[in-house]
Amino acid sequence: MSEFRKILILNGPNLNLLGTREPDIYGSDTLADIEGHCSRLAPSLGIAVDFRQSNSESDLIDWIQQSRDEFDGIIINPAAYTHSSIAIMDALATLSAPVIELHLSNIHRRESFRHQSYVSPVATGIICGFGAHGYQLALEAIAGLIGTKKEA
Ligand code: DQA
Repeated sequence: MSEFRKILILNGPNLNLLGTREPDIYGSDTLADIEGHCSRLAPSLGIAVDFRQSNSESDLIDWIQQSRDEFDGIIINPAAYTHSSIAIMDALATLSAPVIELHLSNIHRRESFRHQSYVSPVATGIICGFGAHGYQLALEAIAGLIGTKKEA
């Protein structure tokens, strides 16, 4: 178990409302459901996940800064801060570990203000449009990037 690599999964504003928030766009899974899916998948990928959500930009920035010594990679759904936060972009740019930008919806099929992401230029890769399943895809992707061993 000690060989598990640590991945921080960060969720931005309003994602605490998943399940009831615009389910036609974001699906019916709650954030707790998604956390459960991630926690069940992670051990088979050699990963231990720490799953967090905040509506506050400063919490997200503090967590990104603190991740430098603690985590081997970050998966982040910055929610609306994707389209506005130079501060989150700057915090992510300080990391050397892989960063995956994640969105439930395909932001490029939506309103034009969602097409701009401040996070994409500093992300290792981007996953969007696969709903809650995207979190599992992101875990698989980051396991590949950091070279954890999959259980047989
Ligand atoms: C989102 C897309 C953002 O544009 C939006 O502001 C969100 C959620 C997504 O997961 O699809 O809050 O990041």
